[in-house]
Amino acid sequence: MNQAIKEVLYSEEDIKKRVAEMGIRITKDYMDRDLMVIGILKGSVIFLSDLIRVINLPILMDFMSVSSYGTHSATTGEVRILKDLDFSVEGRDVLIVEDIVDTGTTLNYLMDSLSRRGANSVEIAAFLDKKEARTCDVKIRYVGYEVPNDFIVGYGLDYSESYRNLPYVASLKEEIYK
Ligand code: PRP
Repeated sequence: MNQAIKEVLYSEEDIKKRVAEMGIRITKDYMDRDLMVIGILKGSVIFLSDLIRVINLPILMDFMSVSSYGTHSATTGEVRILKDLDFSVEGRDVLIVEDIVDTGTTLNYLMDSLSRRGANSVEIAAFLDKKEARTCDVKIRYVGYEVPNDFIVGYGLDYSESYRNLPYVASLKEEIYK
């Protein structure tokens, strides 16, 4: 195991099983609808690539890159779009895919923004939910796992751009980030 890791929270095997369950639910819910999956760069990429392969429906895939102003702990609630969508959401059933919901600032903004652009529906699939850190109220339709308010890395999540490619979800040793 990587020396920086404190504890593995979810193994590669756990993740595979949970993502498959999420895919089955999403497939059922979006049958006969116009599903557009939007990945929020960069953290969501790993989860998204696994999730779309267990959704047994035609999908339109797109990406957005956003950044909240300030640090996550002192966020102002403002979100800046760094890369916008290639396709229109108008009339489509949008599923926003995220690796983690932390304060909820990013998703609160995205839900509102994509609904105002004329999406038929907007829902969220987040692999991890750090509920204790929430400052904005966000309704997450599909959640993989709840995680504690620790520094979480792996399966797309980074610390200073490292550890995204760890195949498991883990907490980071305090001495690494303090
Ligand atoms: C993370 C995560 C979400 C956001 C959640 O992205 O992927 O987009 O933070 O935090 P919030 O609920 O407090 O808004 P980050 O900005 O770290 O970028 P990354 O995906 O490129 O790592």
